[in-house]
Amino acid sequence: MIWNLDGEFVDPQQNGLSLDDGAVLYGDSLFETLKAKAGRIRFLDDHLDRLRLSAGLLGFPQDAARIRQALIDTANRLDAPVARLRLTVTRGSHTGLDFPPAGQGRFFISAGVYQEPSKQDREAGAACVFAPNRRVNPLSHLPQMKRGNYADCLYAANDAKRRGAREALFRTADNLVLEGTTSNLFLLQNGVLVTPPAGELVLAGILRRQVLQAAVSLGLPSEERPVTVEELFSAEEAFLTNALIDTLPVAAVEGRPLRRGPWAERLRERIDEQNS
Ligand SMILES: Cc1ncc(COP(=O)(O)O)c(C=O)c1O
Repeated sequence: MIWNLDGEFVDPQQNGLSLDDGAVLYGDSLFETLKAKAGRIRFLDDHLDRLRLSAGLLGFPQDAARIRQALIDTANRLDAPVARLRLTVTRGSHTGLDFPPAGQGRFFISAGVYQEPSKQDREAGAACVFAPNRRVNPLSHLPQMKRGNYADCLYAANDAKRRGAREALFRTADNLVLEGTTSNLFLLQNGVLVTPPAGELVLAGILRRQVLQAAVSLGLPSEERPVTVEELFSAEEAFLTNALIDTLPVAAVEGRPLRRGPWAERLRERIDEQNS
């Protein structure tokens, strides 16, 4: 694992953030998780666009040009066949609840080798469970941004792991299924690709958008609309997406096997063709 703090490569044990940084005190940070292949970061502009959008909504100062360069330098320095990069942006040191002045913002990047799901992993698919916690108040969670305040997802993801599953799916009190702790959800119903609408309770995932675009190019009709739990169980196929796994079929939810189909792989292959 290598670490880059404010554009310089550092030893994370010796060069930390201040203890009074808002990220440490309040979980007030933004982040992006990116994948690099042979040193080239995939969908870099899309990640930086989402960061800019989140930063604008929350009034986060950020030096986009320096961040971009540091991401590129870090991916090049690691030089792994496939790498996972995590960028974290903070506002810097607090003296109280007031936001620090704009120039104090910090960022850091960690990068390590990433093992993509193997052919067998993709054939086996992901076992999922439902998250024990719910997303109830969209305005307090603001899940359309990748905020550092991620404890809800962390809690649900660890609960899934403890129960032998790969991913936990969030539901609403009205029995709608939303997304995973680190992934968006798609399903096929009557030959139509369906995914819950982004914004409010669902993150506008980078791969989510890629999948919707790939569907257009493959002539597969798609709809962004609410999805019920029953629809998930009766789907012709369902799959998860994120910037690291691309697409991954859902094998089962709460131990109930789901049907399997060809679209998770077809769409993944199309995205690969268009971005290699
Ligand atoms: C809550 C949540 N939803 C969806 C995603 C997928 O987003 P992306 O495709 O940008 O990786 C993530 C990624 O970590 C996430 O944390």
